[in-house]
Amino acid sequence: MFQIILLSVSQFVSNLFYGDGYYPEVYWCSGTSVNDRFYPTYHLAPPQGWMNDPNGFCIFQNEYHLFYQYNPKTSLEPGIAHWGHAKSTDLFNWKHLDIAMYPDQEYDIGGVFSGSAIIENNTMYLLYTGNVKEPTQIERQALASSTDGVNVVKYAGNPVLMGEEHQPNIRDPKVWKNGDTYYMVLGNSYNNNTVGRVLLYTSKDLTCWKEECVLDGSDGTLGYMWECPDFFELNGMYVLLFSPQGIEPQGDNYRNLYQVGYFVGTFDYTTLKFTRLTEFVELDRGNDFYATQTMLDKMGRRIVVAWQDMWEQDYPERKDGFTGQMTIPRELTLSDDWKLLQWPVKEIENLRGEVLYSGKAGGDTCVELTEKTGEIVVKAPVLKDFKLILDAGNATVTISYDYSKGKVTVDRGGNDGVRRADWRPKGKLEMRLFVDRSSIELFCGKGELTFSTRYFPYDKVNVKLGNDCGADEMTVYSMKKTVPPPC
Ligand SMILES: *[C@@H]1O[C@H](CO)[C@@H](O)[C@H](O)[C@H]1NC(C)=O
Ligand SMILES: *[C@@H]1O[C@H](CO)[C@@H](O)[C@H](O)[C@H]1NC(C)=O
Ligand SMILES: *[C@@H]1O[C@H](CO)[C@@H](O)[C@H](O)[C@H]1NC(C)=O
Repeated sequence: MFQIILLSVSQFVSNLFYGDGYYPEVYWCSGTSVNDRFYPTYHLAPPQGWMNDPNGFCIFQNEYHLFYQYNPKTSLEPGIAHWGHAKSTDLFNWKHLDIAMYPDQEYDIGGVFSGSAIIENNTMYLLYTGNVKEPTQIERQALASSTDGVNVVKYAGNPVLMGEEHQPNIRDPKVWKNGDTYYMVLGNSYNNNTVGRVLLYTSKDLTCWKEECVLDGSDGTLGYMWECPDFFELNGMYVLLFSPQGIEPQGDNYRNLYQVGYFVGTFDYTTLKFTRLTEFVELDRGNDFYATQTMLDKMGRRIVVAWQDMWEQDYPERKDGFTGQMTIPRELTLSDDWKLLQWPVKEIENLRGEVLYSGKAGGDTCVELTEKTGEIVVKAPVLKDFKLILDAGNATVTISYDYSKGKVTVDRGGNDGVRRADWRPKGKLEMRLFVDRSSIELFCGKGELTFSTRYFPYDKVNVKLGNDCGADEMTVYSMKKTVPPPC
């Protein structure tokens, strides 16, 4: 009784300050207290526990919804996946909602794995993978729906796709509609789990699915499994974006445990044939970027988010009570030479707070970020080396441009801390860097090269330039807090 009253009082106080839906499930926080020293202030992160892949990213009744793979029990391991849930009107001011799906059915008892959303008839439909681990792994596709954007009901006729001949790795449905037909891509591993590929299905009603073809696959050099496939039109071309597992490092490329990358090509809805016209290109070159999902919003923007973290890391936040966060939502566009450009959605400009610095900058410039958070915009001469340093003691990150080699390096120090990629800026060397407690996202030029990386600064963070380099313009902003504080 006493406990019940305590919970309702804290629920009442939460609702008073943050509105309905702030902590709908107060027990999430019971017995848990997150150390917030690394907790983001404008990136979506779990209130506590473990977050990985973004799921069901959509706009429903004028609000953005973002679900995610979630373990409410501990931040130390992914455990058995649930779907966590948050919503926002502007992609930054997020509200946590009740856990949307629990692993409570025979076909998803091993995890409510990743999937996507499609809005039809004012209903949010969610297609996801039901995982069963015992006695052997089986992945079947399931359907759920919500009419109020909060309560999610699983379809009684689940699973909607058995895929027996493609077991045990067939997952991550991404669904869209063209004409009167629904289309779905699924990631798959075949040939005894040695080669990754993407399968294409169609349906007239979201419940009955027909396998059409292999949309694309590895030739043996691009990994044993392709996760989180996404397929969409951009500027008249078609993009197949996916997260392959098992690509070996080659020089500066493929340095992370798993990658995200894409092909650009053409697609014909009558023959269902996708023709690649580019090589595989990594979407982001930082240490922590995986399992992308895109959505088309009402303004016609193709917006991508990724899990800004990586498997098999030993980051200190895990012991603080939370793991994982989403990247800044980024608008995707296609350049004339068929490369994806990524740019933070324009709503992020509303988060700019105080101008901490503005003007020319040089080797003696030193700007302390407010609460280890900020946005830094620099323009520098294009024919010279350049170095931007986030001086953070034993967590210092150095971003450098090597003019003679035409390369950008982001070095967060420590074991395997260096990531590097080719870049030849035109006109001016322009960089836009977002820092949020324990993450950085670097956008080079117009978004032709990005690095998303976690780092863990214990004390203050100072922005500095290399000794013998200068910026014609540098602006440093503080950033407003837009996500609820953790438990
Ligand atoms: C949406 O409504 C139309 C018209 O009633 C119906 O034909 C269609 O099956 C519905 N779509 C879904 C996904 O239920
Ligand atoms: C499949 O791979 C496993 C593990 O590498 C191996 O033990 C098994 O013999 C393979 N099965 C077939 C049919 O090749
Ligand atoms: C960095 O410093 C902090 C506090 O000063 C310490 O707790 C942490 O273990 C250090 N990390 C590394 C990688 O040395």
